[in-house]
Amino acid sequence: MIQATNISLRFGKKALFEEVNIKFTEGNCYGIIGANGAGKSTFLKILSGELDPTTGEISMGANERLSVLEQDHFKYDDQIVLDTVIAGNQRLYDIMKEKDIIYAKEDFTEEDGIRASELEADFAAMNGWEAESDAASLLNALSIDNSEHEKVMSELPDTDKVKVLLARALFGNPDILLLDEPTNHLDLDSIRWLEDFLIDFENTIIVVSHDRYFLNKVCTHTVDLDYGKMQIYAGNYDFWYESSQLMIKQMKEANKKKEEKIKELQEFIQRFSANASKSKQATSRKRALEKIELDTLRPSSRKYPYVDFKPDREIGNEVLTVTDLSKTIDGEKVLDHVSFTVGHDDKIAFVGSYGIAATTLFQILSGEMEPDEGDYKWGITTSNSYFPKDNTKYFDSNDTIVDWLMPFSPEKDATFVRGFLGRMLFKGEDGLKKVNVLSGGEKVRVMLSKMMMLGSNVLLLDEPTNHLDMESITSVNNGLIKFPGVVLFTSQDHQFIQTIANRIIEFTPNGMIDKVTTYDEYLDSDEMARKRQALN
Ligand SMILES: Nc1ncnc2c1ncn2[C@@H]1O[C@H](COP(=O)(O)OP(=O)(O)O)[C@@H](O)[C@H]1O
Ligand SMILES: [Mg+2]
Repeated sequence: MIQATNISLRFGKKALFEEVNIKFTEGNCYGIIGANGAGKSTFLKILSGELDPTTGEISMGANERLSVLEQDHFKYDDQIVLDTVIAGNQRLYDIMKEKDIIYAKEDFTEEDGIRASELEADFAAMNGWEAESDAASLLNALSIDNSEHEKVMSELPDTDKVKVLLARALFGNPDILLLDEPTNHLDLDSIRWLEDFLIDFENTIIVVSHDRYFLNKVCTHTVDLDYGKMQIYAGNYDFWYESSQLMIKQMKEANKKKEEKIKELQEFIQRFSANASKSKQATSRKRALEKIELDTLRPSSRKYPYVDFKPDREIGNEVLTVTDLSKTIDGEKVLDHVSFTVGHDDKIAFVGSYGIAATTLFQILSGEMEPDEGDYKWGITTSNSYFPKDNTKYFDSNDTIVDWLMPFSPEKDATFVRGFLGRMLFKGEDGLKKVNVLSGGEKVRVMLSKMMMLGSNVLLLDEPTNHLDMESITSVNNGLIKFPGVVLFTSQDHQFIQTIANRIIEFTPNGMIDKVTTYDEYLDSDEMARKRQALN
């Protein structure tokens, strides 16, 4: 259990939190969500005691131990890997060190003997004899082999350091676990392992993440940080999203009676809890759902862009045929006799760690690059638009956003373009900003505006979710689920792939796998795992 009472925090004049009162209890996993800069990381620092709030206090259950995923990858560079993990339980580690010093003494006094036996008792009570093997198995689970355990941290690549820090946070069954963006820099297998670990974890977890799939999987509760306040929702991210959308919709229908509203929400909650899977988490979620107070639901201040791709014409049966396409870049054969045919209902995710292959393929298909060998043929009913992974060269211009978009607009009229930009969250004078000064996220929203205006029936999207916040990712995600045309895309966002794609193509350096399936089925399939192994 960990509790924040009357927490306020001010940096100068700006108040990040005001009178926050919140209690986190064991058996639950709380996902903290909020816009960039809302104060999620700062709040975790207050909980862990790293940062003092302006007012208020943090309290924990008696004798409880709190553990934090540390962010500084270089902090333990001069320490041994295995020690770094065990030192996650500082008290245990101190006992081990003190014992070592006493036993190393040449003249072992009576006092030393008494001290040693005290230490041994504490050590045994803390399961000290298991410490090394526990730490080793956490590391192994994150695919850091035994041969690495005695190395010094600085010898490990950065991606492995992240895993050691994670193992350190998880080590020794802490009572309270604080994780800030734990899936960043982790590979897919490690993320899946972490999900299972957290689902089985019985104490209190507080996690910040922008990975919706991860949040949906592990969280029993969602904590929304908005307007400097924190609101707890019983349920995972999708539940929070659906209920907040529902609230917005209902507020707009002003003349509806309150009873009707309550009834609709209750039915909604019931439907949702019936869907929940039968894990331990689901039971506690269900219990909490039953207790939910309708008054605590209020519309959030989040802004969702309105993403809707409407094709100008229906797509025919002939969409795209790719035949024996090859391309060598910087001496590396990136595409090697690639062939496939696209059907008119296909939404294909190109997955795997060999991302350069898909990027190259998209550049060729969009006409930006010539293949070395082979060819491709678009069906006559098709028109495609392309979202490049690297958009730098497109925005190397002094044009305003409105000017930049005008050539693609079906109506050559600034008012029309501005209206369009409004729904992509560019308000008022924003349309007069020069495109070369836009942030990464703003450029992505402009590029998506262009694609919506073009009205194509085939979309090629290379990492459209990079640089976007959760709200915009959700909007693009919903827009592509709804889109009646063909989509070829890549993304790092698990939920995005899972909810859009009906076919998966994985490029490896030694060939490709092509399967009509959902992403989760693809990842779970032993057959696919064997194929992947054979190709790597
Ligand atoms: N020491 C500080 N002094 C002034 N402002 C700070 C300080 N630390 C963080 N902030 C500001 O507080 C806000 C919240 O930051 P952070 O907690 O990192 O947000 P989040 O994790 O939600 O993205 C940001 O606007 C940040 O610039
Ligand atoms: Mg943060």
